[in-house]
Amino acid sequence: MTNIALLGFGTVGKGIYEILKDKEVYLKEKYGFDYKIVAISDFAFGNVYNPNGLDMELMMEEALAGKKFSKDVVDMDNVTLIKECNADLMCELTYTDLSTGGPAIDHCKAALSSGKHVVTSNKGPAALYYPEMKKLADENGVTFMIEGTVCAGTPIINLTDGPLAGCEISKIRGILNGTTNYMLSEMEKGMAYDEVLKVAQELGYAEADPTGDVEGHDARGKVTILANIVMGAGIKIADVSCEGITKITLEDIAKAKEQNARWKLIGSVEKKDGKVIGSVAPEMVDMSHPLAGVMGATNALTFTTDLLGDVTIVGPGAGKIETGFSILTDILAIHRNKKCC
Ligand SMILES: NC(=O)c1ccc[n+]([C@@H]2O[C@H](COP(=O)([O-])OP(=O)(O)OC[C@H]3O[C@@H](n4cnc5c(N)ncnc54)[C@H](OP(=O)(O)O)[C@@H]3O)[C@@H](O)[C@H]2O)c1
Repeated sequence: MTNIALLGFGTVGKGIYEILKDKEVYLKEKYGFDYKIVAISDFAFGNVYNPNGLDMELMMEEALAGKKFSKDVVDMDNVTLIKECNADLMCELTYTDLSTGGPAIDHCKAALSSGKHVVTSNKGPAALYYPEMKKLADENGVTFMIEGTVCAGTPIINLTDGPLAGCEISKIRGILNGTTNYMLSEMEKGMAYDEVLKVAQELGYAEADPTGDVEGHDARGKVTILANIVMGAGIKIADVSCEGITKITLEDIAKAKEQNARWKLIGSVEKKDGKVIGSVAPEMVDMSHPLAGVMGATNALTFTTDLLGDVTIVGPGAGKIETGFSILTDILAIHRNKKCC
């Protein structure tokens, strides 16, 4: 039985719960995986803990109705709750802060130092403090799993660590931000930048403050994660050069078309002369390249390897179930490695 604590019960928190509930029988039959959610902490709904398992039907009903949790409410701050609860693993699903890491840093430290695995889709701890988190995890015999931080559940981190292990990767290039890829795709249909941004906001792809996406900061966080985890570099987020799509005009789009190419916001990590260089910038990608055909809010990455040449993976980069799946895949990896009961 794996006891789980959820820090953050927003889109992804609800997504992982829905998956675990819907697939309960399948996961038990196929992997012998059984779980209880024993603790939740959420700004909006409060902190709850029951060592025998929370009444999740009720928690979900209350959360969907926008009400505070009414059962198993505890008067503990997040760090105390994480340390004292009987969870085997904590899912860190609070907001991403790429400047300081935000409260997620304390959450992850509390979990790892008290012998709990951490599974997270939050880019903050992974982009800013991966070496520290990994060291703390190793010292405490647990794992720090971050598949969901890059391209949601589309396998990236686990792909390079699993099926691509043994291949040396010299370059990773791709579309790491669905919002900007959607915007560039729509601009090709003739809509100007400002107009397309408004539509993206109406559809929920772009936030009210779109800076993180359109200026490339979100992709920059992911490039930092790829550089440090896949390439073993020790770079900081500020070392990654960053330019967004705000200067791309309809004229630029037309010019690319004339040259049989398409604008994409490309996140790139490359080994050059023993150094790892990371960058985010709009690039004209030739139509013959697999990345050129990736349209809409989809993500894609091409890995340049010594044994296979180029390997491209295409898939969703966001969404309740898609990111919930990233959490499931890491939970199952921990379970299957027998690192959890
Ligand atoms: N959604 C996606 O498709 C996606 C994809 C990839 C990665 N991610 C990452 O996954 C994480 C979760 O995303 P999400 O979409 O689920 O976000 P979300 O819907 O905003 O949910 C986050 C939840 O955490 C709560 N929260 C914030 N700070 C907290 C704290 N200190 N203690 C307890 N609860 C706190 C929030 O409450 P309030 O609303 O009251 O602040 C909110 O309910 C983020 O880091 C995000 O960047 C999301």
